Amino acid sequence: MDELELPRPDDWHLHLRDGANLPDLVRASARFGRAIVMPNLKPPVTTVAAARAYRERILAARPAGSDFEPLMTLYLTAATSPAEVEAAARDASVHAIKLYPAGATTNADAGVHDVLACAEVFRAMADHGVPLLVHGESIDPRVDVFDREAVFVRETLARLIEQHPRLRVVLEHVSTAEGVAFVEAAPPTVAATITAHHLLYDRNAMFQGGIRPHMYCLPVLKRASHREALLRAATSGNPKFFLGTDSAPHARPTKETACGCAGVFTAHAALELYAEAFDAAGALAALPDFASRFGPAFYGLPVSPQTVRLRREPWRVPERLPLGEGELVPLRAGETIAWRWLPT
Ligand code: DOR
Ligand code: ZN
Repeated sequence: MDELELPRPDDWHLHLRDGANLPDLVRASARFGRAIVMPNLKPPVTTVAAARAYRERILAARPAGSDFEPLMTLYLTAATSPAEVEAAARDASVHAIKLYPAGATTNADAGVHDVLACAEVFRAMADHGVPLLVHGESIDPRVDVFDREAVFVRETLARLIEQHPRLRVVLEHVSTAEGVAFVEAAPPTVAATITAHHLLYDRNAMFQGGIRPHMYCLPVLKRASHREALLRAATSGNPKFFLGTDSAPHARPTKETACGCAGVFTAHAALELYAEAFDAAGALAALPDFASRFGPAFYGLPVSPQTVRLRREPWRVPERLPLGEGELVPLRAGETIAWRWLPT
């Protein structure tokens, strides 16, 4: 198969940042129909009013003629109230609430220290059908960085789902065999997004001939057996697994430094990278469901009536891309990608 047609896909996990960076990032992702936009700004998007204002800034940053639709999320803190959940449920632009364990990743300091203590908010979310999006990593400093997801799933997520069986939960950017097995065994209320970089790379990629800061993200890339488990899940046709890039831009100097930020930028080639991963697994035919149908089904939204086309046609990724006043280093910088998303 050298060409593939699929319904216009959506990105169910995306970082668009704000301010001067917004236009470059919105343009990079606007080929997608919709995107779930992460709320980890500085300060975080904790209220419906803030989410609505952020949505307006995103809409204003769209390229002329673009119909890209941002789906907004709220950032859960210890101060989030059931009333805010109710307001979110009533608001057509807010689609989910994001749980960051405190300090787990970029701008997660305002996150939650004791997840299970948010029971009242989770009950309100279950009552109103608001999905909880989970950054699933333990914040116990004694836990090895490569074990943080498995420990969180075992010790926190399992209990959360037991205590709130009606709550709809997405384990974002699942990165381990344990995470995949958990989601597979969980009730249909539980799903997961998978990034292109976790499908294409294992942790060796961070140390290829030296330390590679642009391959560092959270959850961190794991060993090859985990990547294989993710590929199996993504290509299995199980509707619990769908596309979420977690494309996470950082200006080049904040990556290429003694203490670099976590995040891999993939928006410039998101669907193309997934096509590579699926193709290498001999499972291109499973891409349309994963990229375009299973996400809308989970969120109760229509599949796009538009179609897009991918062609097997190598192209070279620029060394750098603009990011506001600065620049970023995209995944595969200076290297080739085997698939091209044809213009419509
Ligand atoms: O690598 C990551 N970058 N993981 C996250 O969870 C956050 C993201 C970011 O916002 O940069
Ligand atoms: Zn993210």
